[in-house]
Amino acid sequence: MLVKDGLKILGVGSYIPPKVVTNDDLSKIVDTNDEWISTRTGIRQRHFVENERNQDMAIAAAKMALEDSGIDKNLVGACIVATICPDNVTPSVACSLQKELELPTDIPCFDINAACSAFMYGLSIARGLLMQSDKKYAIVVGTEVLSRILNMEDRGTCILFGDGAGAAVVELSDNKFYSVLGSKGEEDVIRCINKDDERRYVTMNGSDVFKFAVLTVPKVLKELSDKSGVTFDEIDAFVLHQANKRIIEAVAKKCKQDMSKFFINLDKYGNTSSASIPIALTEMKQNGLIKPGMKMLCVGFGAGLTWGGVYLEW
Ligand code: COA
Repeated sequence: MLVKDGLKILGVGSYIPPKVVTNDDLSKIVDTNDEWISTRTGIRQRHFVENERNQDMAIAAAKMALEDSGIDKNLVGACIVATICPDNVTPSVACSLQKELELPTDIPCFDINAACSAFMYGLSIARGLLMQSDKKYAIVVGTEVLSRILNMEDRGTCILFGDGAGAAVVELSDNKFYSVLGSKGEEDVIRCINKDDERRYVTMNGSDVFKFAVLTVPKVLKELSDKSGVTFDEIDAFVLHQANKRIIEAVAKKCKQDMSKFFINLDKYGNTSSASIPIALTEMKQNGLIKPGMKMLCVGFGAGLTWGGVYLEW
């Protein structure tokens, strides 16, 4: 029997912590204002955890994705969690998820770190693992409590990020699936390093990240279009990492595509790193924006500097 080598998303889910932090709220903490943040980034608010742990959000998002997919969880063959801020060094968030959801024990469960590109990496890894598995499905989660690693005195970074989790249940399929993954081995542009006796914070050179994204994302989209043989005009929806509206607008312009094909929800959540694309997919599905057979290009980019994109058919 030939193994199917495409990948299909069967169900999606998300968890957004209830606490909203508006741009006005931030302007009481740092020297900033709603006008600056919204015109430079498109972000109007973000959500921060209060008591939720990373794993609580991951579990809630994964439960919703399992329910949405309607699958038997005993047939899950891999559980992959993308995160840069796990609750513990070990055990992984994925193992906590496995325990809470009572997933099978004879399957790989692990976390990955490819920053904001990691959900895209996770989908590709899931496909590879399922091709060697006797089980049908995989769960891939992107989950971040970035508020834990923000310097609330640095207006250049603290205004950009938010917390949340998104998840997908996938299976091998005849639907076409192509991925493009990469990394530049760049250590300085965005970082959050361990320092003795100091809290860890994200630091970033914003304009370098901006230039990297505007250069890299169109290249990844073009590579995916070439691999799949599907032109940009034939793509129904572009779902890019929700970092900055101006980045998405610049990509749309370079690809000569109308902005209406690019989903945007960063105004509500800010940049939730690895969670941003699965949160976007969940919201699109909830709002009836995803139809069976739709052709989609998704691209994430972030620290590392990493990038990851997929062509998928719903
Ligand atoms: N509120 C008000 N002013 C601010 C500010 C804030 N939150 N942050 C920076 N400024 C000031 C700067 O100090 C600077 O002032 P100066 O001209 O007096 O020196 C001015 O605004 C312009 O700063 P600059 O950094 O050049 O702005 P920018 O147009 O490049 O926008 C970002 C900054 C961070 C919004 C933009 O570079 C960006 O979004 N980059 C991508 C970041 C990203 O997506 N990272 C995650 C990727 S996964």
